[in-house]
Amino acid sequence: MIGREPTGYVIILVKLSSITPFGVPLFFFLPDILLSDNVLNCILTFWETADFDLTGQLVWPGAKLLNDYLSKNVEMLQGCSVIELGSGVGVTGILCGRFCRQVVLTDHNDEVLKILKKNIELHAPSVNPNCCAELEAERLEWGNSDQINQILKRYSGGFDLILGADIYILIQSSVPLLFDTVEQLLCFRGEQCKFILAYVSRAKIMDSLVIKEATRHGMRMNEVPGTRALVGNLEGVIFEVFLE
Ligand SMILES: C[S@@+](CC[C@H](N)C(=O)[O-])C[C@H]1O[C@@H](n2cnc3c(N)ncnc32)[C@H](O)[C@@H]1O
Repeated sequence: MIGREPTGYVIILVKLSSITPFGVPLFFFLPDILLSDNVLNCILTFWETADFDLTGQLVWPGAKLLNDYLSKNVEMLQGCSVIELGSGVGVTGILCGRFCRQVVLTDHNDEVLKILKKNIELHAPSVNPNCCAELEAERLEWGNSDQINQILKRYSGGFDLILGADIYILIQSSVPLLFDTVEQLLCFRGEQCKFILAYVSRAKIMDSLVIKEATRHGMRMNEVPGTRALVGNLEGVIFEVFLE
């Protein structure tokens, strides 16, 4: 990154072939990761499996979209308590840790959680002076009420912000479950909480399913003006989601 010194590192796994299971060239995901003036260098390790469930080991276009949006709105993070859903390797949550009071990064996949925990260790305030928030990793499978209840018990103040970057890919059955979890989190804090979703469109059927499920769960999805953009060859947009 010309002119900017990295302020930390994250571990990202890279599949040896140059194509992901979704046909997107991997080099797209490799540049340093930015949020405001913070730069994360990527440390790459390699894997060969095309296991669909390991999508969280890459950094997705939605993370770039969300980081760009948060970079321009850093004040909304100041002093906040944040939970990220489907964190993957954790770049967004970790960068939010430069501004927030507390960040809880979640995922459901054991392998992804291992990398996430490693990345969190690299960004503990005691290790990296740029990090001020407590970062925690928690297992959270969308729709699992026990897990979300445990999280809300542990973080009893709830969360000011729920973040999600690129957390819809192709599995339609996970969308209602995701919105169950978002609803539970939003209800806990009422109007003091919102869900910021970096949505990358890959299939029309998914686009309408997301809107339908939000409505069914009593939520309003506001497209944030000026955020519709191409990320790679895909169109993405930021939604702010509230309880009606
Ligand atoms: C495409 S990746 C996005 C990762 C990261 N947010 C980014 O933009 O780079 C989707 C993430 O959601 C997680 N995920 C998928 N289904 C899930 C579910 N049912 N419950 C919890 N996490 C899930 C995956 O493990 C993966 O880390």
